[in-house]
Amino acid sequence: MPEIKAFHNWYERAGVRSDPRRLVDIEDDIHKAFFPEHLVPQLSHPLVDPDDHQLRRYLSAQHLYQWLRFTMHFEVGVVCRATQRIADGSTGLSLTDATRMDAYKIVVDEGYHSLYSLDVQQQLEFRSGIKGLDYDFGPFIAGLDAVGEDMPQHRQLVQLLQVVVFETLITSILSDIPNDESLIDIVRTTVRDHAIDEGRHHAFFANFFKHLWGQLDPSLRKLVAGYLPSLIVRSLQPATSPAHAALAASGFSEAQAREIVSDCYSRETVLTGIRRSAAKTIQLFEQIGVLDIPGGREAFLAEGLIAG
Ligand SMILES: [Fe+2]
Ligand SMILES: [Fe+2]
Repeated sequence: MPEIKAFHNWYERAGVRSDPRRLVDIEDDIHKAFFPEHLVPQLSHPLVDPDDHQLRRYLSAQHLYQWLRFTMHFEVGVVCRATQRIADGSTGLSLTDATRMDAYKIVVDEGYHSLYSLDVQQQLEFRSGIKGLDYDFGPFIAGLDAVGEDMPQHRQLVQLLQVVVFETLITSILSDIPNDESLIDIVRTTVRDHAIDEGRHHAFFANFFKHLWGQLDPSLRKLVAGYLPSLIVRSLQPATSPAHAALAASGFSEAQAREIVSDCYSRETVLTGIRRSAAKTIQLFEQIGVLDIPGGREAFLAEGLIAG
């Protein structure tokens, strides 16, 4: 695997090495928005009053909090779980010393992203008085780890693929938030810090996947081509229970909360979002030849990720 230039100045540029701890502004910055409204699907529902500022603010805050908690768990539980093995040399792949060291840098970055996801939430809760509702990462990780569980002998390979998929996605959160001046500054700044580190990770994992693919025999390639589409969908499938809980906590009845969630997270809407965020990832797999494997294109079609 070639050396990734983006990591040459990691000691000077990585967020964990060079950014100060971000602190919530002590002035009235807290009255700005928690999250861009267009990224909170339930806010566009007719039952959610466009003029009820307090309700919209509460739902946006909970949406941000659940994303921060998801990030806190995901970075360590999924990204570090597999990247640590690239770093310590236990993947069974032949890797250079430089690649292993870059993987270690990613482990350090992700540990720090996890830390400040929690830090930002705690600061915002304290400053705004809006407490986060309980969040359970269990269903997400169970769904993600279910892909390939019929082949436990390939569990470690699947865990590497989970990270390749997630680290090459470009979600609208990382692309839209940094430039949105209507947001509370600490949200914008930490997402920008995060997105800069993720640019480096993206380069690493795109190259890592090419290298991994080159070392797989035809039967494993077939298996991988079958797993990737489900991994993409499960990585990007939005969790609806936090949205439901936030609606219920703000006074909607069970039936109304269910209606809002089912309207705003319809299969078609969700799939459109998934296709957009995964466009670069799918392009990478296409370039490398994943879709040319027998059954490969069909697997992507079956998940609705490409047009027939
Ligand atoms: Fe990260
Ligand atoms: Fe990352």
